Amino acid sequence: MKLRIFFCLLALLIPACHLSAQGLAGSARDRFYPGQLWFDTAGRLINAHGGGILYYDSTYYWFGEYKGERTNSAEVGVTCYSSTDLYNWTDRGIALAVSDEADSPIVRGCIIERPKVIHNARTGKFVMYFHLELKGKGYAAANVGVAVSDRPEGPYRFVKNGCVNPGQWPADLAEADRAATAVPEDYEWWTPAWRDEVARGLFVRRDRAGGQMSRDMTLFVDDDGKAYHIYASEENLTLQIAELTDDYLDYTGRYVRVDPTGQNEAPALFKKDGRYYLITSGCTGWAPNAARLFTAESIRGPWQRHANPCQGDGADRTFQSQGTYVLPVAGRKDAFVFMADSWRPDNPIDGRYVWLPVRFENGLPVLRWEKEWSLDVFGR
Ligand code: DGJ
Repeated sequence: MKLRIFFCLLALLIPACHLSAQGLAGSARDRFYPGQLWFDTAGRLINAHGGGILYYDSTYYWFGEYKGERTNSAEVGVTCYSSTDLYNWTDRGIALAVSDEADSPIVRGCIIERPKVIHNARTGKFVMYFHLELKGKGYAAANVGVAVSDRPEGPYRFVKNGCVNPGQWPADLAEADRAATAVPEDYEWWTPAWRDEVARGLFVRRDRAGGQMSRDMTLFVDDDGKAYHIYASEENLTLQIAELTDDYLDYTGRYVRVDPTGQNEAPALFKKDGRYYLITSGCTGWAPNAARLFTAESIRGPWQRHANPCQGDGADRTFQSQGTYVLPVAGRKDAFVFMADSWRPDNPIDGRYVWLPVRFENGLPVLRWEKEWSLDVFGR
């Protein structure tokens, strides 16, 4: 009898736990629940961290890092989920699988972060860029990886990796700074003199021959079809924006620097009414910090810095998260979703997704915490 009562109580408790854990268990969702567990349409946790979204043929494709319980290294690859409403996501499998070939740059155990996919209308190809760190080398390589597919969900074929724009100067680096002879060994890190010299291109010059470093990154396709790679460079001190070739598989050699020595990571770039917006984070590893906001009238700059776009409780830590992408919502005017990760480095798979609506106030984006919300906040 006691046993029967125990099982009856258990049967009552299990669905209740499930409900509180994920907002809506097993049923279709019609809201976002930032920071809560998010399950796919098969009831499994969505595993797509540091992600970005491709909108193609009336469907959203969410690409992200597959994370395990113990390590941040890439043991599986880049995942893909699809959705038509942004709330309910179907697992489309592994878009880019790590390799079992020991000499492959994407061998299992490397680091793959912040994958982004864009579609090239001319070639018909889907092109993925991601931050790649070589196995066993920590974060020293600071490479970008490129993969392509004929289908949005993949499988993607790894094409190449390396640094950005070898042999090229940033368009906005003065002639005198290009010609300067100071080298990093001349300075002690973090001194004012060193900082000044970094702003004048100390690391750009050091890396020019082999190409610029590229860590946290995103991609952006402009209205004219030109695509750009935006990445943390110069020892994570300066962001760079590099124009891609028409097939999106290479660089044109044109690139600019954003906020030299500003230590920005996690770039997310979007455009509204002809103006460019860039939301970034500071550099504090996996720990959250205050977001930053930049605007520009041209993607080539100059970029102007504004106050933290986050407001309200938790604003000084981006609501315990770090941005990864700003998604324009299809079919809704001026509707953008800020996508961020609440990292859990001790159990990476438990990292949570924080998606928040971007509101515009006085011409600038504002982010506020929402316990739950729906696309209706944007109106129709
Ligand atoms: C912060 C970055 O934004 C993440 O993608 C990751 O590279 C961590 N740093 C590593 O500490």
